Amino acid sequence: MRRIDRIVILTGAGISAESGLGTFRDEGGLWSQHRIEDVATPEAFARNPDLVHRFYNARRIQAASAKPNAAHDALARLQSDFPGEVVLVTQNVDGLHEKAGAQAIHMHGELSRALCASCGHRWDAPPEMVVGEPCTACRAPTARPDIVWFGEMPYHMDDIFDALQTCDLFAAIGTSGQVYPAAGFVQEARMAGAATVELNLRDSDMSHAFDDHITGLASKTVPAWVDRLLA
Ligand code: APR
Repeated sequence: MRRIDRIVILTGAGISAESGLGTFRDEGGLWSQHRIEDVATPEAFARNPDLVHRFYNARRIQAASAKPNAAHDALARLQSDFPGEVVLVTQNVDGLHEKAGAQAIHMHGELSRALCASCGHRWDAPPEMVVGEPCTACRAPTARPDIVWFGEMPYHMDDIFDALQTCDLFAAIGTSGQVYPAAGFVQEARMAGAATVELNLRDSDMSHAFDDHITGLASKTVPAWVDRLLA
């Protein structure tokens, strides 16, 4: 077994499901209640900013009171106790990795942050944002949620690909593998010669690409997986 100096972990909505936050594509998920083209594209925001703000306000308020679960806690423990490097990349915007004490790369942004569409300034978002919300730097009425919408480039991709191309182990936790570029990370890691493992309730669209699968609830499988890595 190759020495593990660097682990890259990708998390998706499934890791936060047991914290009471809905996923996107499971039964009753967010995309069965809202159309992506109505609430999660730049065009949607231009067309109906009030609807988009209300969609993210509801999620921001829910996430603010959500608690990390044993899976988030286990990844924070891994990041602090593992002798090598643990790069935690999340598609989630709920802030639960930070609440658990971990540091994550937020490739889809964060509900807790606001972004000025005019000057690019970022700041801590108020619980509820409104149409015409002024930027706290340039004062222009062009504040938006600091969320990467469909059709926009995810954040920190250079850092993420640097980590993938030099990792020894890649794990995907609670993601359906349906949205790129995240769905392609496992192939990047495989090309770097990394071992790959998927932790999920069920098969995902990318299951075929992983060496190993650990099936079950993240709050159970992730702590056990971390215990084995730290043994
Ligand atoms: N434990 C482990 N896995 C779980 C659990 C659980 N308790 N509950 C659900 N899952 C798994 C599901 O089996 C599914 O594979 O989590 C995954 C959730 O998939 P999605 O809802 O598609 O969420 P995600 O993969 O994070 O979506 C990726 O799509 O809509 C965009 O920007 C959005 O970041 C999101 C991206």
